[in-house]
Amino acid sequence: MYFDTHAHYDDAAFDADRDELLAALPPAGVDYVIDPGCDVESSRRALELSEAHSHVYAAVGFHPEEIDKFTPAALDELRRLAQHPKCVAVGEIGLDYYWDDSHKKEQGELFDAQLRMALELNKPVIIHDREAHADCLTAVNKYPDLRGVFHCYSGSAEMAKQLLKQGWYLGFDGPVTYKNAKKALEVLEICPMERIFIETDSPYLSPVPNRGKRNDSRNLVHIAQKIAEIKGLTAEDVAQHTAQNAKRLFQIS
Ligand code: NI
Repeated sequence: MYFDTHAHYDDAAFDADRDELLAALPPAGVDYVIDPGCDVESSRRALELSEAHSHVYAAVGFHPEEIDKFTPAALDELRRLAQHPKCVAVGEIGLDYYWDDSHKKEQGELFDAQLRMALELNKPVIIHDREAHADCLTAVNKYPDLRGVFHCYSGSAEMAKQLLKQGWYLGFDGPVTYKNAKKALEVLEICPMERIFIETDSPYLSPVPNRGKRNDSRNLVHIAQKIAEIKGLTAEDVAQHTAQNAKRLFQIS
């Protein structure tokens, strides 16, 4: 049983075969998927996919890379969309100083507003932190009651220890299978199995041996395999643990 906690099936990369591909996942052992939205439109599409496919769940949020499109009315619309019974989280939200470090203030305000929205709605958050570790940590530390996952965790082992102490989950993606994965592997060593998610971030970040191709949730097995090597488990054990973790955080029975 595999649970892909982060896959953008609303992305245009899946326009040609989206429904066939989603239908092919449960027979391939992928029983659950969360599709996080990146703006109002993509959040709405993620919810539509969750209505059409019983194994798909959605999160709604405004991604920092989309900051140029943001309007205050978008937050009201996201709040409304979040009432949907298959919306399990607020995400993908966060800070990205890799793509754009000229709107740090705007990104910070949007992030903070969505963290507060998640608390109000009593939903977990899915956090995107790219080259913004210190500011992300400061932002989430303002709200001790927040729960959620740092998606595609790329911070230090030191920061991971702090987040784990505060109850956060850490998501690991295709890059753990890449040759230069040293830092993520160090984090995996100290991260207990009860706090690990495996995610594809489809259509991006395909793991070895499919690096460079369009990604989909059937590639989770390669990430699970890598984690299994580090933890001395089987890939199947990793799949079971991480699926239970996701069901716990996102309250899926
Ligand atoms: Ni993503």
